[in-house]
Amino acid sequence: MHVARTVAEFRAPRAALGGTLGLVPTMGFLHEGHRSLMRRARAECDAVAVSIFVNPTQFGPNDDFDRYPRDEPRDLAICEAEGVALVLMPPVDEVYPEGATTTVSVGPLSTVLEGAARPGHFDGVTTVVSKLFAIVQPQRAYFGQKDAQQLVVIKRMTRDLLLPVEVIGCPTVREPDGLALSSRNVYLSPEERAQALALSRGLRRAEAAWGDGVHDAEALRALVCAEIEAQPLARIDYVSLADQGSLEECRGAIARDALLSLAVRFGGTRLIDNVLLPV
Ligand code: PAJ
Repeated sequence: MHVARTVAEFRAPRAALGGTLGLVPTMGFLHEGHRSLMRRARAECDAVAVSIFVNPTQFGPNDDFDRYPRDEPRDLAICEAEGVALVLMPPVDEVYPEGATTTVSVGPLSTVLEGAARPGHFDGVTTVVSKLFAIVQPQRAYFGQKDAQQLVVIKRMTRDLLLPVEVIGCPTVREPDGLALSSRNVYLSPEERAQALALSRGLRRAEAAWGDGVHDAEALRALVCAEIEAQPLARIDYVSLADQGSLEECRGAIARDALLSLAVRFGGTRLIDNVLLPV
């Protein structure tokens, strides 16, 4: 496994690889969710590259950039165990050279939901992912359905810019009790951790209702809200039922594939989760 700490160190081992390369972009502190992306990439590509870069431009002033969890030795051991060929860990000043003014923005899709709560977040994501695509030059790139809007935004960027990368969405990996794996789960106190189960429980209840023929947007949102509002430590940021392609909120009877997504705060920790509701 090659570990490149600069873009220059990445170029030669990248050029030496033949066949298809799959990229798994991450911010490190790797868990089973990240590992599932690496395994999928391993199964579908000749070689796998993982980037580990805590991207400052996707964090807002009140976000957790400075305290974002990091564990480089453990991350590298995980990449090695998953058969990763190349790890890219560039310094911030190389990804954002002094005086860099170019950004990538997909527009409307990036200003709703997570984008409304975190202004500028998705511009930071699309800017860094386009740079990672340029450095790594993968044929395929793997992203988690856990960050559903991120996946929609990156697919749109790749299509709009005609980038020669196939963007592949992979299922959300959960703890046995249903909590979606996230690097931020380590911030939760035991009580918050217990109450956070209401997120996946609410989504599962709505999914079951959907399966039973409840296709009314307001009724489905209300089911999820009721489950979460019963938790004293939970503060709902949003519960959204939106069109999977445009992310426009659904009203009344749902006729197209929908995305049921939510963001909930527990103290200073903000958790997100979602399920897809296919028509
Ligand atoms: P990060 O939060 O480290 O996540 C890296 C990838 O792992 C993303 O595609 C995310 O959706 C996926 N992932 C996280 N938790 C998951 C879970 N429980 N199940 C399945 N996949 C999961 O997302 C980012 O980093 C950054 O925004 C990035 C794309 C790297 C750009 O900086």
